[in-house]
Amino acid sequence: MIWLILLILFAITGGVIWYVVRHRTQKPTLSAEYKQDVGSFLIESAQKVEPVIQELLAVHAGKRFHEAMTYQVVTGGKKLRPALVILGARSVGGRDEDVLYAAAAVEILHNYSLIIDDMIDHSQVRRGQSTVWKKWGRSMAECLGVHYAAAVFDGALRTPCPVKATKLLVETLQVLLEGEMLDIFQERAGREDELLVAQERYKVVHMEDYIEMASKKTAKLLATSCLLGGLCAGASVKEQQALSDYGFNLGMAFQVQDDILDIFGEEEGFGKKIGKDIEERKGGNAVILFALEELTNPELDELLHRGQLEDNDIKRAIQIISQTQAREKALQLCRRYTEKARAALAALPAGSNREIMNEMISYLMSRDK
Ligand code: IPE
Ligand code: IPE
Ligand code: MG
Ligand code: MG
Ligand code: MG
Repeated sequence: MIWLILLILFAITGGVIWYVVRHRTQKPTLSAEYKQDVGSFLIESAQKVEPVIQELLAVHAGKRFHEAMTYQVVTGGKKLRPALVILGARSVGGRDEDVLYAAAAVEILHNYSLIIDDMIDHSQVRRGQSTVWKKWGRSMAECLGVHYAAAVFDGALRTPCPVKATKLLVETLQVLLEGEMLDIFQERAGREDELLVAQERYKVVHMEDYIEMASKKTAKLLATSCLLGGLCAGASVKEQQALSDYGFNLGMAFQVQDDILDIFGEEEGFGKKIGKDIEERKGGNAVILFALEELTNPELDELLHRGQLEDNDIKRAIQIISQTQAREKALQLCRRYTEKARAALAALPAGSNREIMNEMISYLMSRDK
């Protein structure tokens, strides 16, 4: 009898241990648990969209270009924008399969902007790896970039709403490039041999100038991503506005956060050089802007007007900025935008997708990359 009781106890204990170990070590399944988990949702949507990105980039791309052509997307990234397209569609009752070309198109547009942006900003590292121009050369990067831009519209034409998608993506690309040009005009020094820059450079960068530039170079594409998903899924006018407002405000907060990480981030996680905006003498970085507004000592301003900055100068600039309230002010600016993004969600149907969009805000604000 005692043996039987011991055997039963042994079996029960073993069962409990097996259950605990299995459930602790098992990764959350993508289909069931992503509802509460933004990270899993980003993985799930990236897995769906990656083959479509590859398909679009492969069109008219000869075998000998394949590695260079796909390099920028193979290096990874958070795949935030295609996730927003899918969420935009799902939040108004759409199906993922109807928006995969739209999702691929916005991610290709984003990657196109990164190829160009890294040439403009002389950036050698992104996602912890060599940038396209650094790895494959400038002339190749320029051609690859144009191929990406064409692939965006190929993707748009394959969506269920080709005309609306194409119009929206044309507008977005034009606005984004205007944002990039404004960013250059807000630099404090450099490109002295470029006529238009010499002519148009801002004497002083004010907060409203920064907001216009960040709206155009970054927030517009996030607004477009959410809106495009909704458009493909037949969102009402009210829902379209809510999706666009959510994406826009999320995008503004995202850019301000990027500016903070550029100066106070950790290089390994961020995957980009820390202090790059200082090295490039960007007036259009929210932290630099707040610091310059606050400082009475001209040292930072003088550094930003130098012909070239060494790593020691960048360190000194970060030290000066750290002694101001600039980081806290930038965080406050972020919070103002995240509150607006949250408020915009109220006009969307309640449910698990709206919940993920809500959680996405905090997820992105606590990122380190
Ligand atoms: C970088 O965008 C460009 C900005 C708008 C700041 P992401 O931070 O989304 O870049 P990846 O795609 O995740 O690398
Ligand atoms: C972001 O500008 C906007 C675009 C890439 C269009 P940044 O120059 O701040 O982006 P990162 O920091 O290089 O990713
Ligand atoms: Mg850059
Ligand atoms: Mg830039
Ligand atoms: Mg940046």
